[in-house]
Amino acid sequence: MIELEVPLADRSYPVLVGAGVRHRLLEVLPVGVKRVAVVTQASIPVEVDPGTDHRVFTMGEGEDAKDLGTIEDLCRDWAQWGLNRGDCVVAVGGGVVTDTAGFAAAVYHRGIPVVHVSTTLLGQVDAAIGGKTGVNLPEGKNLVGAFWQPAAVLCDTEVLSTLPPREYRNGLGEMAKYAFLGVDDLADLPLDEAVAACVRCKADVVGSDERESGRRAILNYGHTLGHALETAGRYDLRHGEAVAIGLIYAAELARRLGRIDSARVAAHRRVVAGYDLPLTVPPGLDPESLVDLFSRDKKAVDGVTFVLDGPAGVEPVRVDDRSLLLDTFSDVVE
Ligand code: GLY
Repeated sequence: MIELEVPLADRSYPVLVGAGVRHRLLEVLPVGVKRVAVVTQASIPVEVDPGTDHRVFTMGEGEDAKDLGTIEDLCRDWAQWGLNRGDCVVAVGGGVVTDTAGFAAAVYHRGIPVVHVSTTLLGQVDAAIGGKTGVNLPEGKNLVGAFWQPAAVLCDTEVLSTLPPREYRNGLGEMAKYAFLGVDDLADLPLDEAVAACVRCKADVVGSDERESGRRAILNYGHTLGHALETAGRYDLRHGEAVAIGLIYAAELARRLGRIDSARVAAHRRVVAGYDLPLTVPPGLDPESLVDLFSRDKKAVDGVTFVLDGPAGVEPVRVDDRSLLLDTFSDVVE
């Protein structure tokens, strides 16, 4: 087992990574907790034992269940049970569960502790770490939420073997980005160490910029085109697959801007291809509408702010040249 810490002064918390760490739940529950509300989904084949009085609350499946209706349902169910601020929520699942249960914990009784037991690769290297919680509105994804740091995160790599192959690849797309955020030789590491290396990188970034006023934006590397492809809705892509294409696009854009050379672009292609992720956009691409979506990405604070590699590493860069953005699509078509 590898134990890491997200360093946030008096709100610092441990992240345990390894096979079977879900069985360490009792050790990481806050002191004095009497009752635990376990939030999960029917499809998640992972049981936890908090070692104290607990009930399981099952939320719906998929992004559609990540909404304010589910927050109300959970909070009302918890209130009827009598859950209070001295108790704890345990979210068992992927990003949909940890984002939703985390947000419900953030607002219930003005905030009760939450522990995330992350069961997907995507969740373990990204969603469960760093305290971003929230739900979707019909108007857009993650538009209502809160920063609410968990009391602990358990990344049980044993349960990853139960993931459908495409869900696993979904996580690899998010993992690939860390190869360009300072995690060396990521693809050569055994799974536990690779997950831990990504968590260590994210913990360091979150520790230095919890509320994304600057550096945390680098965690969105590959996400500007990635989000546009997801928002366009006409491409059959999982988040990690869309991010993988976004990484290649961002590398090609950085090369066209003279920030990196062809060898560095080739390194991007090698990492993404090594994870068997897509390097090109699906057929039927409409560059004009995707570029329109770039500036609507909620992470773009001013015009089109891309996260791009360069001599000083990956950093936010403003790109105003629309024809350059359009031309760069020629590098990501088959
Ligand atoms: N998923 C990006 C972040 O947590 O900041």
